[in-house]
Amino acid sequence: MRHRTVLTAGALTGALALAGCSGSGGEADRAALSVSSSYMPQPVSADMAAGFLTITNEGGARDELTSVTSDAAGQVTMHSTVGGAMAEKSSFDIPAHGRLVFRSGGNHLMFEGLKRAPKQGQTVTVKLTFAQSGPLTVEMPVKSATYNPSTGH
Ligand code: CU
Repeated sequence: MRHRTVLTAGALTGALALAGCSGSGGEADRAALSVSSSYMPQPVSADMAAGFLTITNEGGARDELTSVTSDAAGQVTMHSTVGGAMAEKSSFDIPAHGRLVFRSGGNHLMFEGLKRAPKQGQTVTVKLTFAQSGPLTVEMPVKSATYNPSTGH
């Protein structure tokens, strides 16, 4: 009798896990990341530029952006802006079913030691590395120095 109860519980757990998986497209227990709205305002400085993008996680597990690199810069650092002051961070959390947003006035990427001056109309290749998911490569378009994503120019 006791043995039979254990078997039933095991079968039930398996069925629930399967249902959870198919119900969310198989992404229930891992992150599913995509990048949108990326751009770099054409830098006014010869050796430093900012970059912005949005990382969307459609998966059921959190992830973490742990580093950013670019062929156009010696180093890319990640910054948050809190109360008008910016602070370098070594990682950014990406919540399950959530977004990580880098935008003007908030979180931003800083490209330091530029190897060439990015000009409007060009793209800069940016590689994003995560704690759990595989890396993503983004072709970040260079926009005008005063580009505003909400107006598109
Ligand atoms: Cu900064």
